[in-house]
Amino acid sequence: MTRAITTPTFLETREYQRFTEFADAVRRDRYIGLCYGPPGVGKTLSARHYSHWDATEDYFIRMQRPALDRFTYRPPAELAAVRCVCWTAPVLVTASHINRGLVGWCRAVDTAIRRIPDVGWRPQSAGTFPHVELVLVDEADRLKTTGLEQLRDLYDRHQIGLVLIGMPGLQRRLTRYPQLYSRVGFAHEYRPLAHRELLGLLTGHAAELGLQLPDGALSDPDALAAIARITGGNLRLVHRIFAQINRIAAINNLSTVTPDLVDTARESLIIGAT
Ligand SMILES: Nc1ncnc2c1ncn2[C@@H]1O[C@H](COP(=O)(O)OP(=O)(O)OP(=O)(O)O)[C@@H](O)[C@H]1O
Ligand SMILES: [Mg+2]
Repeated sequence: MTRAITTPTFLETREYQRFTEFADAVRRDRYIGLCYGPPGVGKTLSARHYSHWDATEDYFIRMQRPALDRFTYRPPAELAAVRCVCWTAPVLVTASHINRGLVGWCRAVDTAIRRIPDVGWRPQSAGTFPHVELVLVDEADRLKTTGLEQLRDLYDRHQIGLVLIGMPGLQRRLTRYPQLYSRVGFAHEYRPLAHRELLGLLTGHAAELGLQLPDGALSDPDALAAIARITGGNLRLVHRIFAQINRIAAINNLSTVTPDLVDTARESLIIGAT
């Protein structure tokens, strides 16, 4: 069972809200939806947060413990609200990864949802996993022809909404699979944070973003502008630049973030093409 790297605080940004609207629509209308965006903008964390996947994984990990009373330990209630499976395609996807891994997750989540009080045994929809409404496939770029065919089969047979999450270019690549592509309801671009929202987060939520300096340490407008410019609204870069700022501030015994401090932090960062 793989676990994504999670942050201490997930921020429900505007981009996350757009992702939520998109995923709700795919789930409601049982489409195939494509979500693409550059590395580090928050696609994986958004999918996991939307599907309450940390809580679901914890439930299944605890269920494997021998001492646990499986009949009294309940699945997380949120699972019944979203009815989602979140699956990360492995680096080399084989047929059995999808048949046993992904389909196995659908079966396990379907059974778990039935165990939540008030959900009951009555199917909510047709299909083999009537309680699963949406499958989020992260790292969909790793899927080759056979894997994509298997996903199309899963979609057709089980009446489940399907979201494929990957890098920009995913949409273009999938046009080469006309049968799958003809089932795509719509595509959603996951973008970096807008400048104004990033500035709002930096001023109001710097601690949640990883800054370990006292409140008010990040109030110099030039320092804020430099962080916004360097990171371009990419939250992975924001976390990484704060890691450098924390380190340099501790070494030099600084308690405020200045443009010079940001510049020095910038020099230690490797920023790829995003
Ligand atoms: N909503 C958020 N709140 C807080 N931090 C976030 C949020 N979204 C992203 N991050 C930060 O950005 C990092 C990258 O996020 P994530 O792994 O979801 O990006 P990604 O778009 O899936 O990237 P990749 O294409 O490389 O898989 C996270 O580890 C976290 O530090
Ligand atoms: Mg990711």
